[in-house]
Amino acid sequence: MKQIVAIYPGSFDPVTNGHLDLIHRGCKLFDRLVVAIARNPEKDDSLFSLEERIEMLKAMTEDLDNVTVDAFEGLLMTYCIENQANAVLRGIRAVSDYEFELQMALMNRKIEPRVETVFMMPAEKYSYLSSRIVREIAAFDGPLNGLVPELVEEHLRRRVAEKRAVTSEIPIK
Ligand code: PNS
Repeated sequence: MKQIVAIYPGSFDPVTNGHLDLIHRGCKLFDRLVVAIARNPEKDDSLFSLEERIEMLKAMTEDLDNVTVDAFEGLLMTYCIENQANAVLRGIRAVSDYEFELQMALMNRKIEPRVETVFMMPAEKYSYLSSRIVREIAAFDGPLNGLVPELVEEHLRRRVAEKRAVTSEIPIK
């Protein structure tokens, strides 16, 4: 019987409860789900290193037997073919996501027609949640409960404190 292997690609900087909601939904639908963190050496302004993001995602998915965590560089479609994946999972939170996601899905289909993009919706309570908003709330010491797992919140608080320590060494003119 044909196995459906799906790749869930993203930046995951950091992983949020919205991402985890999608992973839980996706792993019920596919035989295997690979959460693949995109590495972009040309645009590396991420808050967490690739290794830190892998560590957080692995810790949050260790109870899911058919989920693995990996990283990739280059074209997503090349990574899919190299890993015998036949689907890509992406989340759509609101209409505003649709335009970019459609463009990406259609471009990916043009590059590699054998791979199908599957869209899933996270729970409504995560429809306004994004890694960018989480980073911003953390930067201003705002509340993160319900937005990210406790482990991720710990990492965020620590990283913000580290960044603050470095900035406070720079004199303001
Ligand atoms: O979490 P993000 O930042 O929305 O994820 C975007 C991501 C990493 C899935 C996308 O930028 C991507 O697939 N990058 C890999 C390079 C690639 O294949 N680009 C062509 C996409 S049409």
